[in-house]
Amino acid sequence: MILVVGGAGYIGSHMVKCLRHAGEDVLVLDNFENGHRGALLGASCVEADLRNPTSIENALAGLDVEAVFHFAAYTDVGESERNPAAYYENNVVGSWNLLEACVQTGVKAFVFSSTAAVYGEPVSLPITEDHPLMPTNTYGSTKIAVERMIQAYSRTFGFRHVCLRYFNACGADPEGELGEDHLPETHIVPRLIKHIQGKSGFKVFGDDYETPDGTCIRDYVHVSDLAEAHLLALQYMRNGAGSDAFNLGSGSGHSVREVVDSVLRVTGSRIDVSVAPRRPGDPARLVASSERAQDVLGWRPRHTALDDMVSHAWNWMKAHPDGYGD
Ligand SMILES: NC(=O)c1ccc[n+]([C@@H]2O[C@H](COP(=O)([O-])OP(=O)(O)OC[C@H]3O[C@@H](n4cnc5c(N)ncnc54)[C@H](O)[C@@H]3O)[C@@H](O)[C@H]2O)c1
Repeated sequence: MILVVGGAGYIGSHMVKCLRHAGEDVLVLDNFENGHRGALLGASCVEADLRNPTSIENALAGLDVEAVFHFAAYTDVGESERNPAAYYENNVVGSWNLLEACVQTGVKAFVFSSTAAVYGEPVSLPITEDHPLMPTNTYGSTKIAVERMIQAYSRTFGFRHVCLRYFNACGADPEGELGEDHLPETHIVPRLIKHIQGKSGFKVFGDDYETPDGTCIRDYVHVSDLAEAHLLALQYMRNGAGSDAFNLGSGSGHSVREVVDSVLRVTGSRIDVSVAPRRPGDPARLVASSERAQDVLGWRPRHTALDDMVSHAWNWMKAHPDGYGD
């Protein structure tokens, strides 16, 4: 059985769909704080909170879990600066409790959702896995703390692990069954779509960066391609390999202005987007090298066109104006 922790969330739910499609036996563990029952699409689920070790033990009692995919975390960079305790408790202590339960129950493989935020301000581009790890915010610091904890547990207890460092997850299930429903929404594409739908404001933060159009450049990767990479990581560990960290990005960045233009093009809208001053700590460019994932895992992202990512997100949000409705 594969346990998907945080499987009711945005990326985790796409993972669950992908695993079930591949014929795997899947169980979701989620506390539904930021997840949605509607995102499970009928997958088996146990409600538990990682901050409560007894709750995890009860959830895993008697189960034969081969691998754990760990998506559960708080993910808002700004909030992590305002409330570091909540981030260390949920992301680090929660992961520690999960690792302890994995050791007790003999889990053999562990895949962790890490992030580009572990690198901080880039000193070289594109960012490879060997880039110095210098997170500039609490969210990134919690993720690198968990990566190191997983390495230590993996060395001591002999299970395999893969840390996947996503850049900007984007898009939605191409079949339209799943999408992104965060409250508050911090990601650019759903925020822009909500702006077009009159549900929230939107500002471009800074148009005076040293980039071709002056706005920040980020690396967008389709959520279904992320799920595919996890499946390959599972295969990699089943073949006896591990443990390693891999970047997951598209390798080509897009500016905020390009994303705005794509959203306007795909949705056929003509809304104005205003510009605000730069936010402190936003690097001009963050672009991944995903060569290691391509070479070692054989990962070939399929939905690399920005308009495809945006149109999948738009299709879902258009059909689900209230998200999952919970
Ligand atoms: N979305 C991105 O662009 C992005 C980029 C880099 C890394 N990541 C990482 O990917 C993972 C998934 O991100 P997402 O956007 O799907 O987030 P999400 O908030 O949509 O999903 C997280 C899920 O975990 C659950 N959860 C959180 N804390 C829990 C706890 N203590 N016990 C049980 N369940 C808990 C939530 O209810 C939710 O269902 C996170 O670890 C995030 O740090 C995301």
